[in-house]
Amino acid sequence: MNWKKLPALFLALMLSGQAQSDPETDYLALQKLYQQKFPDIELAEFKDGVYAIDAKMREQWLEMEDFPAYEIAIDEGEELYNTPFANGKSYATCFGDDPGVKSGYPRFDEDLGKVVTLEVAINQCRLDNGEQALPWLIGDLARISSYMAFASRGKHFDIKIETPAARAAYNVGKQFYYSRRGQLNFNCSGCHQLNVGQMLRAERTSPTVGQATHWPVYRGKWEDVGTIHKRFQECNSQVRSLPLEPQSDVYRSLEYFLTFMSNGMELNGPGSRR
Ligand code: HEC
Repeated sequence: MNWKKLPALFLALMLSGQAQSDPETDYLALQKLYQQKFPDIELAEFKDGVYAIDAKMREQWLEMEDFPAYEIAIDEGEELYNTPFANGKSYATCFGDDPGVKSGYPRFDEDLGKVVTLEVAINQCRLDNGEQALPWLIGDLARISSYMAFASRGKHFDIKIETPAARAAYNVGKQFYYSRRGQLNFNCSGCHQLNVGQMLRAERTSPTVGQATHWPVYRGKWEDVGTIHKRFQECNSQVRSLPLEPQSDVYRSLEYFLTFMSNGMELNGPGSRR
């Protein structure tokens, strides 16, 4: 035994201990946190994000929802979804007859050893059929994803974390969520858990639970629908930290963690946000 290696061994043991952190326990702990912070709000209502906890903002949002800006994106997405590829096949070849499959994404692919988000699956379907991949953040991919989210409305998230490799991916996302970063040295949980509901300039921060239910989202600032990885990038930039690449392994794991925290909740995408 080389005793000099002991600290490294100890560290490895500690990390493997962390890798066994149980998603179900995390999930219940987080639900408890928000029930304590917002005793008058049912957890299911957090699917509306910040509009579940701020009555005035909710009123303005409901007005927006009368003529939702994402409606065009759904229509365009539907047309894109139903346009056959050059080889005559279509998205239905990959996803089946019902495009409302979002409740099962992200999922962990054991063969790839990676988290597969809905956007990754859409682009993979394109590549498998000889088409080019679409850009990740806004545009046609977000439109197709918006149509699929719309078709998934009313279903409930059923995210599975069943194997050690899937748990390890979940933990990468979880650790990212709780790690401080950027010049402001903030973690995601600092704004969305510890200080949840507090004002930050003109905005109030929403609870982690429910943040995944309504993507893609239309924002006036973006003048388009955008995917959740665009929001990840913005929240990273807000604390003056460099955003990661969309659909990088870490952001995929982050989405896996975040969506698991909305497990069982109703899908209500696409959404509109300020
Ligand atoms: C400095 C505070 C701050 C930090 C740190 C922060 N966010 Fe945010 N985040 C906000 C604000 C403000 C909004 C807009 C209001 C809202 O919906 O929460 C927001 C919105 C979001 C939304 C959209 C919520 C919705 O309902 O549409 C997601 C998802 C999100 N943040 C994830 C993250 C993740 C992941 C991290 C860590 C990488 C993070 N945030 C770090 C302040 C922060």
